[in-house]
Amino acid sequence: MLQRGLGFTVMFILGMVFAAEPGQAGGYTLNIWNTQASAYNREVVGLMTWVLAFAALVFVVVTGALIYVVVKFRRTGKETSEPVQTHGNDRLEVAWTVIPTIIVLIIFGLTAQSMFKLDRPPPGAMVVEVRAWQFWWDFYYPRYGIRNSSEIILPVGRPVTFEITSGTKEIPDVIHSFRITSMVGTKDAIPGVITRLHVTPEKVGSFYGQCVELCGISHSNMRFRVKVVSQEEFDRWIQGARNFQPAPVADPDLLRGKALFMQQCAVCHTVQGVSRGVINNPDLTFFGNRTTVGSGMWPNTPEFLTAFIKDSPGMKPGIRMPAFPNLTDEDARAIADYLMTLRVEGLDFTQLPRY
Ligand code: CUA
Repeated sequence: MLQRGLGFTVMFILGMVFAAEPGQAGGYTLNIWNTQASAYNREVVGLMTWVLAFAALVFVVVTGALIYVVVKFRRTGKETSEPVQTHGNDRLEVAWTVIPTIIVLIIFGLTAQSMFKLDRPPPGAMVVEVRAWQFWWDFYYPRYGIRNSSEIILPVGRPVTFEITSGTKEIPDVIHSFRITSMVGTKDAIPGVITRLHVTPEKVGSFYGQCVELCGISHSNMRFRVKVVSQEEFDRWIQGARNFQPAPVADPDLLRGKALFMQQCAVCHTVQGVSRGVINNPDLTFFGNRTTVGSGMWPNTPEFLTAFIKDSPGMKPGIRMPAFPNLTDEDARAIADYLMTLRVEGLDFTQLPRY
């Protein structure tokens, strides 16, 4: 009951925050009490329940005592002199020192136990390297030689270890923090250091990810998505991504889009088999498979993509990508249409339930 009530409150507050921005890629029920998502969440929720139960106990005892004293010793108007003054009470003082000490020790023990449990790498975990940049996320699957920016595809029921860092040695970045709100978190992304986070996703769905360390002007816009899919769908994704060849374009509009992409975008953005960009810019190889534009900000529709290509700094302040006022709406739309052709066929992540 307590758990559900608090879970609901957290969801409600987060829901208000995210629902307040119409047009953004919303519809997520962010909930750290989503105990079906992972054993990690169950562990954390168990711990939080203990802490909250002790907090509730302390609250009830302290406010109860306060109310009792205020009522019992209130002024009646019949006093003839000051009441008897008491100084010190050994038994009471020992009690209010010993009881909180015991509570803190219990919470310490439970926390240490959970931390050791959660830090243990699960056997056979798939490694996903996470690289944070101002203001987006890059993901690598070293076992498969695949890179995908802004979205992680994971198979349900298989342990995964995130190896998290920020920037590279050559191109340093600031501290960020990695959190998949309804599934697992939080671990800082620190330059020059690799931090690890282990989880086994247990629920198919699209999970909302967010940077949770203030890292600059677009910190709140530094988002990502985790798509947890069936093993069969994951295998198809890996298969398609490993053997990826961009679909040949013949349509004149797409050809123009590709030519414009090569002129304007290719110097920064990598597309496997098309362009070799720079590491500190998002990889666009599987752009057509993404459900969001602007690193998790807006739904991946031609309208949002066109607008973003033309004026990304206007939509997402502080990002490195410049505006392209030289491009007409038709030009930007042609690039957007071309980007949508970059995809592994036969996969649709838009219909997954959102957490
Ligand atoms: Cu990256 Cu906040």
